[in-house]
Amino acid sequence: MSSNAKEGRRSYLPAAGHDWFLPLYDPVTRLIGADSARRELIEQASLRRSSRVLDIGCGTGSLVVLIKRLHPELEVVGLDPDPKALARTRRKLERVGLSAQLDEGFSDELPYPDASFDRVLSSFMMHHLERDEKARTLTEVRRILRPEGSLHVLDFGGAEPRRDGFLARILHRAESLQGHFDGQIPALMDQAGFVESKETAHRTTLLGRVAYYAASRSG
Ligand SMILES: C[S@@+](CC[C@H](N)C(=O)[O-])C[C@H]1O[C@@H](n2cnc3c(N)ncnc32)[C@H](O)[C@@H]1O
Repeated sequence: MSSNAKEGRRSYLPAAGHDWFLPLYDPVTRLIGADSARRELIEQASLRRSSRVLDIGCGTGSLVVLIKRLHPELEVVGLDPDPKALARTRRKLERVGLSAQLDEGFSDELPYPDASFDRVLSSFMMHHLERDEKARTLTEVRRILRPEGSLHVLDFGGAEPRRDGFLARILHRAESLQGHFDGQIPALMDQAGFVESKETAHRTTLLGRVAYYAASRSG
């Protein structure tokens, strides 16, 4: 649990489950193939047709840095409630001479005006949210997307029966993965008003089965 909980502020599940695992997060996720999974998410999002992109739950910034590397012309914003993870993102961007706006905040209370982004991406973040937070997040994402905009999500799960790996089971609270393995993510997207919500692909990693989802703001 985050240090926020101890201080009476709104809590969240940090990137590696505990603050003290954070330095291990990047090397471990690299080993299980998260980088190539994130690259596929970027390809699916067709970013060439966009100008402003938000990564919700950006954590230590691997997706933000990859987007900026592949599309330096884009304005990229990363949001996460964890200041320690954001500090790591900031250092990573500085090391490679890139820049992005980084904001501390929660995905269900996005501090942005209506219709202010072309794309919203999220990798390995949705399973950190309770079911009602997921629903509120999707409503917020739809609010800040422009009419032609779309949402692209990568996370554990998929429509087929649950097959998350041993490491996934010990690293994550089991209840946070509920709703990820029975097609509930596209259903929640539909409920938030998105159209064409679907699972677009899936792959198997050491941390379990991961799925890609996409949904459009309007038809
Ligand atoms: C497993 S990490 C994924 C980080 C990054 N997207 C990646 O691909 O490595 C999940 C991230 O979600 C963030 N998170 C947890 N609750 C959140 C919330 N309510 N809103 C936004 N981000 C949240 C955590 O702080 C953490 O950085």
